[in-house]
Amino acid sequence: MSLGYTSQIEPALRLRQPLLEDGSIDAVRILNGAADGVPGLVIEKLGPVLIAQLHEQRLAVGEDAARAIAEQLCRRLGATAVYRKWFVRERGGVDPRIAEAHQDPEPWLGQAAAPEHAVREHELQFFVRPYDGFSYGLFLEHRDNRTLVRELSAGRRVLNLFAYTCGFSVAAAAGGAVQVASVDAHKRYLEWGKRNFELNGLDVAPHRFYCSDVFEFYKRARRQKLRYDLVIIDPPTFSRQRKPRRVFVLEEQLEALCAGAIELLERDGLLLLATNDRGISRQRLEQAVQSVAGGRRCDIRERPALPVDFAGDPDYSKTIIAALS
Ligand SMILES: C[S@@+](CC[C@H](N)C(=O)[O-])C[C@H]1O[C@@H](n2cnc3c(N)ncnc32)[C@H](O)[C@@H]1O
Repeated sequence: MSLGYTSQIEPALRLRQPLLEDGSIDAVRILNGAADGVPGLVIEKLGPVLIAQLHEQRLAVGEDAARAIAEQLCRRLGATAVYRKWFVRERGGVDPRIAEAHQDPEPWLGQAAAPEHAVREHELQFFVRPYDGFSYGLFLEHRDNRTLVRELSAGRRVLNLFAYTCGFSVAAAAGGAVQVASVDAHKRYLEWGKRNFELNGLDVAPHRFYCSDVFEFYKRARRQKLRYDLVIIDPPTFSRQRKPRRVFVLEEQLEALCAGAIELLERDGLLLLATNDRGISRQRLEQAVQSVAGGRRCDIRERPALPVDFAGDPDYSKTIIAALS
């Protein structure tokens, strides 16, 4: 075992101390791979459960060393379980044994956790599922962006594309949006999202949930003349749809994605665009929006920074907020 790597634990915990002591947050990225001196190993804390992501192509430590780090963190943080996720590059072609392991209630370390529990993020709560596949239901890098969306949403009609479990939608509704439309290709994520609304005491009745490919939704929205004041686009880097059969590659479709959203945006509307595609820079995001703004004036209003637990890896996740006249 490489003891060199376990020595990265204390500095990583020190950096996150303000978050760990903040009683209003209990979901924190504890170890951020290379940014914390352990390339390829990411560990997140979801209340009493830790999730360890082993990124196949970047992992600098062996499995035993990764386990020793997870064990030490588990003790230091008083966690009850650690679940392990193997991150392979091509998720579509993932080994079925890995897919099965990600659904296994038996943890890597500790005692089995409940299939679902709620985590806190300031005034909001979200359901997470530690053994529901690669992802557990919440992207922590957007913690501050969700707060921003909450602050921007009062009185606005909000469209959340690639909504997943509706993290941004819940933030918008809690912030006083008159209506939030959430679009995702997977019904089960939208169902999970509705439960997140309910968890926060938010009535789903005024809101809309569209189980649809985003580009199909654009056609429908154009037909129905739907309009929004704030559109959120936080897409995956790559996805495959069955109905209609379609491959989504962000790198290739970024401009079309922005163009479709801008068409639905009211005058003086806002567009929040985010990506964790390492191949797409913040500058490219800005250029993409500006290149399809048509005759509308487009100002980049904010370039939100990453939360402190994601510091040191600026290529990972980038966000811009554009205002369109
Ligand atoms: C990276 S997650 C998005 C995270 C989300 N924005 C959030 O804040 O938690 C990707 C989501 O996009 C959805 N998705 C992928 N391709 C899609 C498409 N072409 N149309 C609609 N949804 C899609 C997936 O079902 C998944 O829920």
